[in-house]
Amino acid sequence: MARRTPVVRTVLALRQAIAALRRGGNKIALVPTMGALHDGHLSLVREAEKRAKRVVVSIFVNPTQFAPTEDFSSYPRTFRSDLAALSALGTDLVWAPTAAVMYPDGFSTTIAPAGPAAAGLEDKFRPHFFGGVATVVAKLFTQVQPDFAMFGEKDYQQLKVVSQMARDLDLPVKVVGVPTVREKDGLAMSSRNAYLSAEQRAVAPTLHRVLKSSAKRIKSGEPIGVVLEAGRAAVAQAGFALDYLEARHAESLAPVTSIRDGRLRLLIAAKIGTTRLIDNIGV
Ligand code: PAJ
Repeated sequence: MARRTPVVRTVLALRQAIAALRRGGNKIALVPTMGALHDGHLSLVREAEKRAKRVVVSIFVNPTQFAPTEDFSSYPRTFRSDLAALSALGTDLVWAPTAAVMYPDGFSTTIAPAGPAAAGLEDKFRPHFFGGVATVVAKLFTQVQPDFAMFGEKDYQQLKVVSQMARDLDLPVKVVGVPTVREKDGLAMSSRNAYLSAEQRAVAPTLHRVLKSSAKRIKSGEPIGVVLEAGRAAVAQAGFALDYLEARHAESLAPVTSIRDGRLRLLIAAKIGTTRLIDNIGV
């Protein structure tokens, strides 16, 4: 049987555990998560194993990236099964601080990301979100001091925001993007998929279908504006309330008008019932 992965919950215990993992010059890869682990998270862990001898996974449902109206209190928490899955993979350490450890009384410093964090995508609908993400990820990077940090392309804007922050702050970590893991029918794996009713689950793959067909049409030379309008209509027709379906420059997330503007990424966010899903695809 696999050894149970050790769990640390204080910064001091983390420091000691990291020093032990580093002994002999081992590299460390960090996989930041909010738990409720699925195969998407586990693919980040597997990629981490390829990069570094030691793998640390953080599990922390970060309150500062949820608005008061969002699902912080109902966000799925499945620590025991998360730990079992990570132990089976041979993860070296789980960093699971409490909110009081991450944000002690008097905590008063935050990171305010701009650039990709102000692209008019997620930030437009969740204005608090990237400040919360950037601050907690900066803390995770300074706490764990990893050589590599793995982030999913599933949260494409987040990947760009974190990469920009690491660059801007000269943090000595290589941020690595990992492709999106999908269910057989194309739905991007997400902890929030657990919220979907059977009926909603059946229509959820529409997002990926629309992204795929839009990418194909844009590649074949159809005007981006026309293709996106058709995509938006198809998503609404399937019963979603669309937040956005946009084409952006894949690196800068700047708006684009033509396929000649460089490598493109299509990004979508939509609500089905009360569940908000996001996805994206390269063109
Ligand atoms: P969470 O939603 O738990 O996701 C943790 C990591 O798993 C993120 O990098 C995310 O992009 C990646 N991920 C999620 N679903 C994936 C999928 N289907 N395929 C590939 N990767 C996937 O993202 C967060 O947590 C938080 O914002 C965090 C970065 C931990 C900061 O609190």
